Amino acid sequence: MAREFSTVGVVGLGTMGAGIVEVFARNGIDVVAVEISEPALERGRATLTASTDRAVAKGKLAAADRDALHERVHFAVGLPALHSVDLVIEAVPEHLDLKQRIFAELDRVCRPEAILATNTSSLSVTEISVATTRPNQVIGIHFFNPAPVMKLVEVVRTVVTSPEVVADVEALCARLGKVDVTINDRAGFIANALLFGYLNHAVAMFESHYAAREDIDAAMKLGCGLPMGPLALMDLIGLDTAYEILDTMYRRGGRDRRHAPVPLLKQMVTAGLLGRKSGRGFYTYERPGSPVVVPDEATPLTTEAGLADGARAIAKVGVVGSGTMATGIIEVFAKAGYEVVSVTRGAEKSATVCEAVKTSLNKGVVRGRLAEADRDAALGRISWSATLDHLADVDLVVEAVVEELSVKKALFASLDEICKPGVVLATTTSSLPVIDVAMATHRPADVVGLHFFNPAPVMPLVEVVRTIRTSPEATATARAVCAALGKTGVVCGDRSGFIVNALLFPYLNDAVKMLEASYSTADDIDHAMKLGCGYPMGPFELLDVVGLDVALAIQRELYLELREPGFAPAPLLEHLVTAGYLGRKARRGFRDHSHR
Ligand SMILES: NC(=O)c1ccc[n+]([C@@H]2O[C@H](COP(=O)([O-])OP(=O)(O)OC[C@H]3O[C@@H](n4cnc5c(N)ncnc54)[C@H](O)[C@@H]3O)[C@@H](O)[C@H]2O)c1
Repeated sequence: MAREFSTVGVVGLGTMGAGIVEVFARNGIDVVAVEISEPALERGRATLTASTDRAVAKGKLAAADRDALHERVHFAVGLPALHSVDLVIEAVPEHLDLKQRIFAELDRVCRPEAILATNTSSLSVTEISVATTRPNQVIGIHFFNPAPVMKLVEVVRTVVTSPEVVADVEALCARLGKVDVTINDRAGFIANALLFGYLNHAVAMFESHYAAREDIDAAMKLGCGLPMGPLALMDLIGLDTAYEILDTMYRRGGRDRRHAPVPLLKQMVTAGLLGRKSGRGFYTYERPGSPVVVPDEATPLTTEAGLADGARAIAKVGVVGSGTMATGIIEVFAKAGYEVVSVTRGAEKSATVCEAVKTSLNKGVVRGRLAEADRDAALGRISWSATLDHLADVDLVVEAVVEELSVKKALFASLDEICKPGVVLATTTSSLPVIDVAMATHRPADVVGLHFFNPAPVMPLVEVVRTIRTSPEATATARAVCAALGKTGVVCGDRSGFIVNALLFPYLNDAVKMLEASYSTADDIDHAMKLGCGYPMGPFELLDVVGLDVALAIQRELYLELREPGFAPAPLLEHLVTAGYLGRKARRGFRDHSHR
């Protein structure tokens, strides 16, 4: 028989604790909510009230249910109020000594049969448990932020947690409507172990002025479909909490330098910039605790102002290449009203590309997204050529030929001879240094990267890569063109992986390493990232779609450029590629797709 939990205690009513109180009370469980002082208690109560009021305003909670919810919560200062609860969840700041002190006291005040749980993100549950005389009744129950919304709970068992306690807590999670994954006690568990290296890397990009905060966040939202960008997520987590989690993971998790908190974090914490909860972190918020971002001195000027920044007028665009990307890019420009000159290596190729563009535009018509007249107008704007000479009078060239440096360099040398002065020359390379291509011309200031995502007509993001020689005008032009295409252009430096791949692939590689270490299963890891962090796909689902060979190639390049030991490709990834298990396209990758 599973244990009945009728009353639970929550210690610490900050970012997580207040949300955890709400989860229990919403599910009909009485809660004793404890804080360290009266003001802190008031803050916790206000957070709970604001959250449930929002739920009522959004129609997600009936007013009567909100009132009943509040009646189930009893607020108190000090741990002695927890004397008769069945389970306690501790959610105080991420410091081992503090948690150990609290657990020792909980051990004294709580009933002997009560379960004591910690919501720690990175500390050792085992080390916390030994501060009590009942380590077999101590467990980790790791909720995700915001607790009322995120479906995942990581249940962390130590080597001494009794199996009955694990089973009881699993049943409790089900009662709360949560999905649990049960795992052993390791720094960062599943989700944070995969998340925090990525978050820290994003902070490093920001710190080094590699890209602006809005661009880093937009890149990950639009390029990967994440619910928030990494810097906005850091603000939500709280920079002090994030710092402690990283620091603990660094010390406990094998001193992976990627977990050593970026110095800027410490400075921000010291300066009181803790994220949303203090009203200011990477972004500025309406007031402490508010999710509403307000403009500040770092907010970029609008597109109109950007245009005034020296962006050149573009009317006619050349697109060189005949592959998937070139085809998509021709369509995107033509649909947006640009005159397009497509250059391929021969009439036959031009005919194929033309057919592909027509087919794609027709699909838009069939689906009711494009009027027939607009399709015809778009097609009418494209001229087809097999010679670069026809690019003599275009204002912008987008190169999308094979991903080989020698080919691209030769092409750019020719463009340099043919194109008129002032033209912006763009490469769509996803992995070669743009500066190499730029230096094949006598006008490197006019060369940028325009990294479209596949399929170009659908994906809303373009990475605008500026090299150390790119002029501000060329960058402004590229950005303005992206806006005119209805896409978001994010500007970044000329480094391997730009923003999206540099942040995405090491995370995927880490997931493979976690699987390889037998810490968890592919299913649980996928679950954890989808339900705990709101990712549209888990890492193994995504790897099978992207192709393991593609992922390996990108990871190798990142590793070679940055020489970061943590970026070394996971041996399992290499083995799967060698074995021909490349993902969906090979009908087998991390999963078997042969029956689909
Ligand atoms: N922030 C997140 O996104 C997140 C997600 C999952 C887990 N966690 C974990 O949850 C825990 C809490 O993190 P947080 O972000 O909510 O921190 P927080 O700083 O927002 O809140 C901590 C609260 O604990 C209270 N507190 C401090 N000492 C106390 C004591 N002796 N007795 C009672 N209350 C006390 C503080 O007044 C504060 O309100 C940490 O272990 C953290 O790692 C955080």
